[in-house]
Amino acid sequence: MATLVTLAALAALSCAAAAPLNVLLVSTVSSPSHYIWTNALATGLLERGHRVTELVIRPPAVKHENRTSFVITAPTYGDEHGWDLEVTNVLSLWEEIPFFYSFCVESAKAAFESQAFTDLMKHLKEKKPKFDVFVLDFIMQEPMIGLNSVIGRVPVVAFTAFNMPEEVLQAMGSPFVASMLPFQGVGADGGVPMTFRERADNAFKWLTYKLYAHYVDRPRINQDIAKWFPGAPSLEELEKDLAISLVNTSPPLHGGMPTVPAVVEVGGLQAQPPKPLPKDLLDWVDAKNAPHGFIYMAFGTNVKAKMIRKERRDAILRAFGRLKQRVLWKYEDDDIHDKLPPNVKVAKWLPQNDILGHPNIRCFVSHNGGLSTQEASYHGVPIVGVPFFVDQIGYSHKIEKIGIGRRVHYQSITEDSFFETVFDVANNPKYRENMQKVRQALRDQKETPLERAVWYIEYAARTGGAPNLRSPGLQLRWYELYMLDLLGAALLAVVLFVWLVSRMVAAFVGLLFCTAPKRAKAKTQ
Ligand SMILES: *[C@@H]1O[C@H](CO)[C@@H](O)[C@H](O)[C@H]1NC(C)=O
Repeated sequence: MATLVTLAALAALSCAAAAPLNVLLVSTVSSPSHYIWTNALATGLLERGHRVTELVIRPPAVKHENRTSFVITAPTYGDEHGWDLEVTNVLSLWEEIPFFYSFCVESAKAAFESQAFTDLMKHLKEKKPKFDVFVLDFIMQEPMIGLNSVIGRVPVVAFTAFNMPEEVLQAMGSPFVASMLPFQGVGADGGVPMTFRERADNAFKWLTYKLYAHYVDRPRINQDIAKWFPGAPSLEELEKDLAISLVNTSPPLHGGMPTVPAVVEVGGLQAQPPKPLPKDLLDWVDAKNAPHGFIYMAFGTNVKAKMIRKERRDAILRAFGRLKQRVLWKYEDDDIHDKLPPNVKVAKWLPQNDILGHPNIRCFVSHNGGLSTQEASYHGVPIVGVPFFVDQIGYSHKIEKIGIGRRVHYQSITEDSFFETVFDVANNPKYRENMQKVRQALRDQKETPLERAVWYIEYAARTGGAPNLRSPGLQLRWYELYMLDLLGAALLAVVLFVWLVSRMVAAFVGLLFCTAPKRAKAKTQ
């Protein structure tokens, strides 16, 4: 009987856990790579039986009966503005901050002004759907949190494909320990532990960004919220709805970073076991036809072929022509076909995850974006990193530090230097061996990052915002969190003490000098 009751209780529990949730998913960062991550998350939620209503920048590849998509069709930031690759990787901090924030501002503008946003707002106002949880691509698109006031303030799970940004830690009441945490997850050039100089740089960069965020960015975010969600509370108030943050880092690549439990590392959730390649690609990379293996080159979704200068492109092609391996290059333009050496094949789009998972691959020439670095690591493929901006630069330092690849400075690419680096990474076994260790560590987790992400979304919904995980840091002011008030009090005590002691010494010395003659006088009398 007891067993039966237990069984019934268990059955009820598992039903409750599996009760489908109504999820609002919003990801409007104007970068196709972020969509790859968002789509993996949406797919994970749908596979668990949840219903997803989403505002995103790409239509889903596969239709699903429980997925309602509002798709922003505006060109992405990179397509609209382009990037000058000759300068993006050598920006100073003073150039990098506006560069980064202009991307955020333009992304938000494109999203708010889109038909998809208008349609979603109309849908929410007319149909009044009830949501259990709001899953939001928060960093770089903070104003979208205003949607939570439209749907009645449900628990928010913030996520970002952009490493572990400091803004997330702040919003979750998790201290940013600048001695251990590289800014934005990858900031420290030499990795961790940081030297004195690196810690100084890291702290300076962090504080500069903080000042910019406080005086420029947060006021702008609040203006956007007031403009697009009339009557909505401020960012500071809406941030109280943040239950969980899913961040795109993982210990094998980033080290064990100190965070509160509401910050959940689900790095690389988009990396999946490979699916079979289409026939033409399979024939090209197969060991029968490519006995020395093959090399895959792709610069992600933001950097396009047309942005690469012709002389650099031609140097790269000549270097490839000298290799024994075959080469697959994701190249979006048609101006290259008559220049290709016989061992090089280009295509406008390539199934990256499946290519990286092919056993005959020898190395990956990459812009070292976060997602590409994770996918290469997941599949154990050494990297030649050619970083262009922001976190790519940090990742390229990281791969050298861990010994899983080498970095190339884009502006210094010559046929010889490029050939030498690619040859080394493709042929020297040490990179592959180190990469195998990272690969092993990435797979040695108690559940997959995607399962973990979905579990925490369900947890946030069923606990009404994960109150048990709330950080006490959220109730402290910034100087209390970092104990600056204590430090100030201690300094004041030391100063007072030194002052007191010096006054006493002075008084004593004064006493000695003033009274000695008096006593002498007294004796002679
Ligand atoms: C869609 O949702 C319904 C109700 O939540 C569920 O019964 C159904 O299995 C879902 N469909 C798919 C294909 O998952």
